[in-house]
Amino acid sequence: MTKSLYERVRETVAFIRDRSAMRPQIGLVLGSGLGDVVGSLADAVALEYAEIPNFPAATIAGHPGRLLLGRLQTTTVAALQGRIHYYEGYSMEEVTFPIRVLGALGVRQLVLTNAAGGINPRFRPGSLMLIADHLNLMGVNPLRGPNDERFGPRFPDLTHVYSPRLRALAQEVAREIGLVLEEGVYAAVSGPSYETPAEVRMLRQLGADAVGMSTVPEAIVARHMGIEVLGLSVIANMAAGIAERPLRHEEVLAAAARVQERLRTLLDRLIPSLSRVEVTQTEAIPKE
Ligand code: HPA
Repeated sequence: MTKSLYERVRETVAFIRDRSAMRPQIGLVLGSGLGDVVGSLADAVALEYAEIPNFPAATIAGHPGRLLLGRLQTTTVAALQGRIHYYEGYSMEEVTFPIRVLGALGVRQLVLTNAAGGINPRFRPGSLMLIADHLNLMGVNPLRGPNDERFGPRFPDLTHVYSPRLRALAQEVAREIGLVLEEGVYAAVSGPSYETPAEVRMLRQLGADAVGMSTVPEAIVARHMGIEVLGLSVIANMAAGIAERPLRHEEVLAAAARVQERLRTLLDRLIPSLSRVEVTQTEAIPKE
């Protein structure tokens, strides 16, 4: 018989715990061109996705595909360096499997980063946007299918996907280091083609400030498990039609890479303060 998602998650968690005794408090997903944001984790153990049982392998340039378990000051962090994208052909269950694993490892706060196209005309390439809310325009929901109550409820509430408390904390840290953090709505599309200018005009009318091809499935699955979510978009380019020139993946990666230093400064300060926040939610999966 094929194993259930729950059983596969437990199997993967057992493998990871065998490799590292660290119990991560904070989860971090590093998006396109942002893999180096955590150069500075102490006592880090690195696991290639390819060696982790049940993990899908990342395939796209700019996504190395490693799980790092390490410490940022006194905070234990599990960082996914490179994510699985829906446009690669994986199912939503595969795309969000690493998030299930982070939840089962005990992560209570999750920081999701991505590179996105800017729609809000105030934004510039290089702007940093805190995700205030999202539009799921991927045409699918990662929770479709039988629900396993051990992960979370059938109909999870999405009123506050991106924790207002964590956002306030992020703004506070940004102010301390003199960094401007925009806030806005992230629209998720399936890709892999970039949008047409007409689609970007539509997204703008729908209330989107940025557009990208990730993050939303992960945020939904994290909320399903009661994990607090913070979302950060690096505006790598202005979306199609806002800037006149064609979009190229290499340029998007390069633009994201240029912002890495600022993002690292922010996360180095922010992540340790996230874990000091008191959490009252129950664990998605009880520890052994
Ligand atoms: N559109 C969609 N996804 C993206 C973009 C974009 O302009 N830039 C980076 N990811």
